[in-house]
Amino acid sequence: MALTTMTDAPKGAGPSGARHVAIIMDGNGRWAQMRGRPRLLGHHAGAKRIREIVEACPDLGVKYLTIFAFSTENWKRTQSEVAGLMSLFRRYIQREAQDLFRRGVRVRFIGDRIKLDPKLVQLMDDLELLTSGNDRVHLTIALNYGGRDEVTRAAKRLAYEIEMGRLTHKDVDAETLARFLDTHVLPDPDLVIRTSGEARISNFLLWQSAYAEYEFIDTLWPDFTAGEFARIVQGFAARDRRYGGVKAKA
Ligand code: FPP
Repeated sequence: MALTTMTDAPKGAGPSGARHVAIIMDGNGRWAQMRGRPRLLGHHAGAKRIREIVEACPDLGVKYLTIFAFSTENWKRTQSEVAGLMSLFRRYIQREAQDLFRRGVRVRFIGDRIKLDPKLVQLMDDLELLTSGNDRVHLTIALNYGGRDEVTRAAKRLAYEIEMGRLTHKDVDAETLARFLDTHVLPDPDLVIRTSGEARISNFLLWQSAYAEYEFIDTLWPDFTAGEFARIVQGFAARDRRYGGVKAKA
C-alpha cells in the first residue's frame, strides 16, 4: 500500500475507513410533495430512516454519525413547518430514548439551544445524560445548528476567556479555537453525505469538514437505505486522502 507523506491528518481520521460520517438529510419536502402530501409527512418519514442508518454504523466501522436536523436558517420556513418539526423532535426523543439507550448509542446535540423551547432542551439534556455511558455508536444531532454561528459563538467565548485574563491573544490558534466549538469532543468528519441531488454544504460543519470527502446523491432522504449507506461508506475507503500533502512512492 502506498504511504502518504502527510503527518497532520485531522484528529481521529481513520487510515482508510470512514470513522465519522456526517449526513445532510435533504429531500423530505419533495418526497412528500411528490406524493401529494404535506411536507411535514416527509419529515416524519425522514425521522423513521434514522434508526436503520444508526444500526448500520458498527458493522461499517462508523463510530461517529452526525445528522443535520435543523439549521439556524430553517427558522425562515413557515411557522407551521417549524412548529411541526419542533414537535417531531420532541416526540422523536420521547419515543426513541429508551431504544437508543439499549442499543448502546451515545447521543449528543450540537447547535445553539438558546432559541429552542425549554421543554425540548430538557429532553435533549436528559437524553444526553441517559446515554452518556454508551460507546457503541456516537450519534450527534445538529439542531438549530449553523457552522458560521458555531464559529462565531466559539470566537465570542474565546474573547471572553482573554477578557478574563485566562488566555492571551498568543494562545489563539486553530487548536484552541476548536476547543470552543460544539464538536470539541468529536473527531472531524471523514465523509459528508448529502441526499436529494443538491451539491452544497448549507453551513454544515464548515470548520470540521476542511478535509472531509463529499458524496452528493440523488436519493431523497426518506428513501435512503442502509444498503446505499454501506455502498457509499465502502466506496470511501478507496479514496486517496492527502490532507494537502503529496503521495509518496510505495
Ligand atoms: C431537509 O429537507 C430536511 C430538514 C430541514 C429536516 C430534517 C429532519 C428530519 C430528517 C427528520 C427529523 C429528524 C430528527 C432528528 C427526529 P427539506 O424539507 O429541505 O426537503 P426539500 O429540499 O425537498 O424541501
